[in-house]
Amino acid sequence: METETVTLIATTAFGLESVVKREVQALGFTDIRVQDGRVAFTARISDIPRANLWLRSADRVLLKMGEFEARTFDELFEGVRALPWERWITPNGKFTVLGKGVKSQLGSFRAIQSITKKAVVERLKGAYALDWFPETGPEFTVQAALRKDVALLTLDTSGAGLHKRGYRVYTGKAPLKETLAAALVQLSFWRADRLLIDPMCGSGTILIEAAMIGRNIAPGLHRTFASEAWPAIPASAWHLAREEARDAIRRGEPLRIFGYDIDAEAIAGARANARRARVGEDIAFQQKDIRDLWIDQQYGILISNFPYGIKLLDYKELNDIYISFNKTFRKKKGWSIYVLTADKMFPRYFKRGRPDRVRKLFNANIEVHYYQYYGERPPR
Ligand SMILES: C[S@@+](CC[C@H](N)C(=O)[O-])C[C@H]1O[C@@H](n2cnc3c(N)ncnc32)[C@H](O)[C@@H]1O
Repeated sequence: METETVTLIATTAFGLESVVKREVQALGFTDIRVQDGRVAFTARISDIPRANLWLRSADRVLLKMGEFEARTFDELFEGVRALPWERWITPNGKFTVLGKGVKSQLGSFRAIQSITKKAVVERLKGAYALDWFPETGPEFTVQAALRKDVALLTLDTSGAGLHKRGYRVYTGKAPLKETLAAALVQLSFWRADRLLIDPMCGSGTILIEAAMIGRNIAPGLHRTFASEAWPAIPASAWHLAREEARDAIRRGEPLRIFGYDIDAEAIAGARANARRARVGEDIAFQQKDIRDLWIDQQYGILISNFPYGIKLLDYKELNDIYISFNKTFRKKKGWSIYVLTADKMFPRYFKRGRPDRVRKLFNANIEVHYYQYYGERPPR
């Protein structure tokens, strides 16, 4: 049973498909197919724990139940009822159905949801010879997603989104989602032996994610997942994956990671978050205004999520930040600079030259850009 193969789908935020694809590859999965917001791959049932524990930039891991054309409600009902739900959902399973439809004849999410729920119940009634389900057991979230009249039916193996690592005790004013922060680090040139700073680190998310990457700490190691309670996945697979993840942690060489923020409360919060993520020793946080930042190292990596101005700062303050940032980093050719901001004027203020790459992303539904300026490599 554990060797039975399934298709898993790692869902991603807009623009992060390539990062998640690389993560899926690095975990050794094959047969990878990428679509908007989805990275599908083949895995064994016993790989479900590993995918959930290790994927850093994906939102969730879904188990694909089936995919079929559905232009009418009858087609949807029949298609859903034909799938082997009893293979996963227990007779006492508590299940929720989510529905959505884009560019499809069936567009009403409520109707998609209720038809899907009815069809799953019909299937389970037949399979278990029951008329009524107590729904007191493990949780199952079924999702019916229609795109261009093709229905994709999945079960959510993650439960709470993968960004919920469990370390965030302090949130701050505008925290980045952990999954996005991990992607920013993975899109950069930072490696565990290189210097990293975030001069406006807020609750410390970027640096904490970097330290976890540097230490090879599985991001999901300290949380639980919905499918841990599913009898179809042997408890031993979870046990083994957790044990492997604990063994994989690399302590040893010190990391050089530094975080600053003007706000003392943010710095105290970032420290608390880092401790909770078990990387408290790996990051040096200090309260500092970016206008007082002095850099004497020739080589390094800077990754930061700048205040956007709209809600966090007034124009004059933002302008001051840009001026001092420009003064400090314009000529630092050995520094790779990565800035995430909603302010499209940023590249005009930063006179280092044109960014080597600009990536459009979304942060809490706000369109942002990730401006990447590549620095010279340090000598070996
Ligand atoms: C968008 S938030 C960063 C959020 C962070 N990435 C996180 O995940 O929590 C911007 C941060 O810039 C800080 N900030 C604003 N002006 C600053 C300045 N002059 N010097 C240093 N930090 C500043 C704010 O206190 C805020 O924490």
